[in-house]
Amino acid sequence: MSLFATFRSVVRFRQFEWDRTKRQLARCANVEDLRRLAQQHLPAGIFDYIDGGAEDEITLRRNTDDFSRITFRPRVLADVAAINPATQLFSRDIPFPLILAPTGFSRIANSQGELAVARSAERMSLPYTLSTMATRSIEDVAAVTGENARNWFQVYVWRDRALVSDLLARAREANFEAIMITVDTPVLGRRERDIRRGFLLPPKIGLDTIYEGARHPRWTYDFLRAEPITFANLVGSTVGDGRSAVSLAEQVNSQFDQALSWRDVAWFREAWSGPIMLKGIQRHEDAILALKSGVDAIALSNHGGRQLDGAPSPVSLITQVIDATENQIPVICDGGVRRGSDIAKAISLGATACMTGRSYLYGLAAGGERGVDHALRLLEEGFLKTMVLTGAHNVSELNDQLVEMPKAWESQPQNLQESE
Ligand SMILES: Cc1cc2nc3c(=O)[nH]c(=O)nc-3n(C[C@H](O)[C@H](O)[C@H](O)COP(=O)(O)O)c2cc1C
Repeated sequence: MSLFATFRSVVRFRQFEWDRTKRQLARCANVEDLRRLAQQHLPAGIFDYIDGGAEDEITLRRNTDDFSRITFRPRVLADVAAINPATQLFSRDIPFPLILAPTGFSRIANSQGELAVARSAERMSLPYTLSTMATRSIEDVAAVTGENARNWFQVYVWRDRALVSDLLARAREANFEAIMITVDTPVLGRRERDIRRGFLLPPKIGLDTIYEGARHPRWTYDFLRAEPITFANLVGSTVGDGRSAVSLAEQVNSQFDQALSWRDVAWFREAWSGPIMLKGIQRHEDAILALKSGVDAIALSNHGGRQLDGAPSPVSLITQVIDATENQIPVICDGGVRRGSDIAKAISLGATACMTGRSYLYGLAAGGERGVDHALRLLEEGFLKTMVLTGAHNVSELNDQLVEMPKAWESQPQNLQESE
C-alpha cells in the first residue's frame, strides 16, 4: 500500500465548522470548559468579578468541593429504559430540578445579558430569576419571553420601601410568578479580586482598561456597540441607576436596609400574593423561622461564596434543614453546582431543586445565548445520565439510600432545637 493510501485509511477529516461560536462551544465538554472559554473572552477584571468570591475564597471552593465528598450507591439491572427527570415547584412542572439564580449585571458578560438568559431558560421551561441589579428591566425581560415563561424576581431590600413596592408592582404587572428575597447581603462581602482591580459597575473603559480591552477585541466590540449599561430596574429612582460608575460596595452599603429582620417578611406577605422565597438561609434554626414566617420556599445559599467567607456550603446543610423543617417547605440548594450529577446529589439528600449562577454566566460569556443553552443542556444531560447510572427512575427515587455523605453533615438531634 502506498504511503498516501495508508494515510487515507487512518485519517478522517471532520467537516470544518465555519461558525466560530459553534466550533468553540462544541469543544466544551463541561461547565469548567465553558469557564475557561469565558476567561479567554473576557477582560480579566470582568472575569474576576464573575468568577471570584469573598476574602480567601474558602467558601467559594467549599461550595464545589463538597459535592465531591458525596458518594453514590448506584443500583444496577434496574431497567432504566424509561426515566422521568421532571419535578414540581409551586404546583407547576419543571423538566428537571434546576432554577437559574439571579445575577446582577449580566450584560458585562455579553451585551444581550439577561434577555439571552431569560430566553434560554424559557426554551428549557426552567424558572429564571431576574436580579434587582439587572442590566435589563423587568419589562424588557417580560417582552422577550412568552406566557409560559417562569420569570421570578429577586428582591434586594432597599431602605427606600417605596422603591421596593414599586418594583413588586412592576413584577406583578409583568406576570412574574414569584419573588426571592436575598437575605445574606446587609453589606457587600469583601471581594478582594475586585478591590485589587478597582472594579466599577457598570464597567467604564478608561485608559487603564484599554490594554485589557485590546486583548479581548470581541468583548470590547460587543460592549462598545451596545447601548450603555445601567441598572435597568432602577432608572429614574433615587438610589442611582449606574449612569455614573460606583463601586458595588458603595451602592450596597449605602442603600441596602441593614435593619432588615424577620418582621419584614410579613410586610412582603402583604405586598406580594404569589410565592415568596428567602435566599441565603445558612443554618437550620433560620430555616425553622423561615417556615414559621410563612414563606413558600427557602434557598440554602451563601451567595456563591461572595459574602461571608467561612460560611458552610449549601449542600452540606440540606439534611439538617430538611430534618429541622420536617420536609414542610421546599428547599433549594444554591451554590457550587457545575454538573448534572451535583443536582442529583442535592436532590438525593432532600432538596427540591438546585440553582446555579456561574454555570450559565460562563456560558453567556463563552458564547452568548447559545452558550447559555449549552450550559443548561450540559447540566440536563448530566442529570439524566446520573439518573440512568444510579438506577433512579424518577426524582423520588433520588433519595438518601442512593448517596453517602460525610458524617458531620448528618442531623444531630441535640442541634435541631430552635434557637433564636
Ligand atoms: C456575577 C454574579 C452576580 C450575582 N448577583 C446576584 C444578585 O444580584 N442577587 C442575588 O441575590 N445573588 C446574586 N448572585 C448570587 C447568585 O444568585 C447565586 O447565589 C450564586 O451564583 C450561586 O453560586 P454558583 O455561582 O456557584 O452557582 C450573583 C452571583 C454572581 C456570580
